[in-house]
Amino acid sequence: MPAVQQLSPVYPLGSTINERGVLEIGGCDTLELAREFGTPAYVVAEDDIRARARAFVEAFRGRADAFDVLFASKAFPCTAVYRLLAEEGIGCDVASGGELALALGGGFDPARIYLHGNAKSDAEIEQALAAGVGHIVIDNVDEIDRLDRLVGEGRRQAVLIRVTPGVRGVTHDAISTGQIDSKFGLSIEDARGAIERVGAAGHLELAGLHLHIGSQILELEPFRRAVEAIAPLGDFPVYNLGGGLGVAYTADREAPRINDYVATKVDAVRDVFGPGKTVVDEPGRALVANSCVTLYTVQSVKRNVSTWVAVDGGMSDNLRPMLYGARYEAQVVDRFGGGTRCHLTGKHCESGDVIVRDADLADPRVGDVVVTPVTGAYGHAMANNYNGVPRPPIVFAKDGDARLVVRRESYDDLFARDVER
Ligand code: LLP
Repeated sequence: MPAVQQLSPVYPLGSTINERGVLEIGGCDTLELAREFGTPAYVVAEDDIRARARAFVEAFRGRADAFDVLFASKAFPCTAVYRLLAEEGIGCDVASGGELALALGGGFDPARIYLHGNAKSDAEIEQALAAGVGHIVIDNVDEIDRLDRLVGEGRRQAVLIRVTPGVRGVTHDAISTGQIDSKFGLSIEDARGAIERVGAAGHLELAGLHLHIGSQILELEPFRRAVEAIAPLGDFPVYNLGGGLGVAYTADREAPRINDYVATKVDAVRDVFGPGKTVVDEPGRALVANSCVTLYTVQSVKRNVSTWVAVDGGMSDNLRPMLYGARYEAQVVDRFGGGTRCHLTGKHCESGDVIVRDADLADPRVGDVVVTPVTGAYGHAMANNYNGVPRPPIVFAKDGDARLVVRRESYDDLFARDVER
């Protein structure tokens, strides 16, 4: 019998290595999942997402006077995920008309939806108004009169104003948004003018302020400083503090606990603005990232200066290593351990298509199924058809049962939008 390996804590909750030495996600043998659903495939441990949603809600319930937790749905815009999180009773953040359509289709109560966007079109605003979304987050001054006009006679729309606090967390530049020179939100100075303008608008109701300093942030202190920074703008019923809590992608990293993150934000609002405020949070990554793994099959093993282990996916299913230099772990699903230093590469036509540089796999061979954990956030979300590669299916695993919630794209899908063929 193979020795039971210690699983890296970045795998979904409840992951194990079974008596056959194979990784199990949600009680399902990953070799069997690869056989049944093909590879590449995203496999989601449903209970992991539920547990994290509950952890956010419990943390707020224990601490905040009033709160709402929103799923920042850009992280994993898949109907089954929307449905699961709607069932958990949380709200939803959408950043486009498309995400709004998906959120409504996934069962979210429109009143619990917040619409974001730095370039909302009239059509998107009209769509949100028709759906009856609870809040629209104003990002810029141009939007105010336009929104007021579109809401129109006899109606009022609750809004927040997005403020750029001038606070940076340590993260990749591409996903840092708290700095003054940002395409998102208004500086403290400009926000003063916007607050006046919204106050004077006939059909807008200013509920409060919004801020979001960035994503994949692993220290808590910037979240507190951001709240302090917006204090000069005065007192409002609602403070929506965005998302941003980072996760561990590899065993050597540690992320703050959900409880401590929530405490930091709630305490900051109470300390700065006093009791009785509604604190809204918009976790994306921290809700869904660790719930999901990607399964690939090795297609070739090439040795030159390095060892190149090439799999059947890559930058079409996980752009994060290429866009942000993000580090992932990898293992052969039925031979955890290491021994062969190699680059886990994708099948795409560029040298940058490396999923994990300097991976350590156990004697990787053609036909092996390889897993990369922590692909739930912004994996499926940013998947694409580069090189005509169909996007992977999404499989939900729970208590030993697996069900397909998104099928693999087909070649027919690649032609689906052609008007001329
Ligand atoms: N709220 C707002 C207004 C946001 O812009 C975002 C993320 C969130 C909440 C959720 O942030 P989270 O809790 O997930 O950090 N594609 C990048 C991440 C882009 C994040 C964009 N906005 C990545 O793969 O790292």
